[in-house]
Amino acid sequence: MTKYYNDKLSAYDKVSAYYDKVSAYNDKVSAYNDKVSANDDKVSAYNDKRPVALPPGPSPLPIIGNILQLGDGKQTVDVFRSFRKKCGDIFSLSLGLYWVIVVNRKECLREIFVKNGEFTSDRPPLYKPASLPPGPSPLPIIGNVLDLGDGKHTVDVVRSLRKKYGDIFCLSLGSYWVVVVNGKEHLREILVKNGEFTSNRPPLYIMNIFKNKRIISSNGPNWKAQRAFTISKLQEFGFGKKSFESSIIDELNPFLQWIQQYKGKPLSLEGILNASTANSLMQIILGKRFDYKDPKYCEFLEIFKQITMSSALNGPVNFMPWLANLPGDLFGVKADTLKLDKLIDYFRNEIQEHKNTFDEGNIRDFIDVYLKEMKIQERSTSNMLNEDQLASILTDLFGGGTETTATVIKWTILL
Ligand code: HEM
Repeated sequence: MTKYYNDKLSAYDKVSAYYDKVSAYNDKVSAYNDKVSANDDKVSAYNDKRPVALPPGPSPLPIIGNILQLGDGKQTVDVFRSFRKKCGDIFSLSLGLYWVIVVNRKECLREIFVKNGEFTSDRPPLYKPASLPPGPSPLPIIGNVLDLGDGKHTVDVVRSLRKKYGDIFCLSLGSYWVVVVNGKEHLREILVKNGEFTSNRPPLYIMNIFKNKRIISSNGPNWKAQRAFTISKLQEFGFGKKSFESSIIDELNPFLQWIQQYKGKPLSLEGILNASTANSLMQIILGKRFDYKDPKYCEFLEIFKQITMSSALNGPVNFMPWLANLPGDLFGVKADTLKLDKLIDYFRNEIQEHKNTFDEGNIRDFIDVYLKEMKIQERSTSNMLNEDQLASILTDLFGGGTETTATVIKWTILL
């Protein structure tokens, strides 16, 4: 049993090490590409909706990507030469399910394959890597997606797969291999004891929209820095402490008044629970609360609700990113991007207002704390704080804190 478990664990380590290598590689390539692409204006014309960590390249067609451009009767070398002219020494192509990075020029090749060979010498995962744990046979392109969506509850599907393949098994979900871990001991071993290797987020499509800015979508040092800073500063305002109780109680009065207007008649707590929960967060973050009928506040909460609800709809794009290239907006990804931009703009305005009235001797809320720390860290080379990050973090705090807390309260009332 121990050997079986160890084999599986080491297989998982390999997968996670592979993800780390790919993301480290992507970072290096894109950083390197920034340095070498002198013809930026030409390159930007070629920028499309590829993952942000990838270098530019010709626009791909849905599903088949750039395959037709490679097979249009010309020699591959000539096609590459023309791409190189337009996009620079390092460009990316979409070949069906995979993004491929093409590297030209001796110096670039030396930098990437010799100096950084540690990250770039793995072969691409064109077939299921032998090191992965067992799992159900995947279908071409969609993998095991149908196994998960066959009308049963996901928990029941995972339970039956666990019975068949053991505690640790593997699924192919579109373009990704996903390792599923069951059992408290395995989870502790993999996610807690080996958290250093397994805490990165997978390179899902939705993460590219957020551009490694938000806490919930970033990785590595940026994630650690923003998360640690946010938690410590929220605690300064009493978050998670008994002293926060008084501001929750303050919010209770308008909440109860709102219920009283129904005079014992049936009512839905759906919207009001979100509005009052969000208000407690608003107090800490923006230093103010909103009237439940304030049209701007209602619109703001509605956008949050819509984004939360459509996360199930745009789920497939995370695992089959090429779906995002299909015409229209079948999976709601484009609409969600616009909605998210609207929320971020809302917080940008709040940040601007805070800047206009900022007084270092009178720190009012989380935005002020962040602005103050930004000033302190301004000249530090390791500074990771900036206004874009702040707007994204505020979105995270509301996204992470409102629906979750309101749902727990709803269930508590129901039970
Ligand atoms: C009962 C209420 C809550 C529940 C059930 C809950 C649940 C969770 C869960 C399961 C995660 C992990 C998600 C993942 O990484 O995949 C998470 C992360 C997070 N939550 Fe909550 N949460 C609650 C309240 C809050 C509140 C009040 C806030 C904001 C003040 C908040 C902010 C966040 C943030 C920013 C993250 C991302 C942390 C990171 O990735 O490092 N949550 N929450």
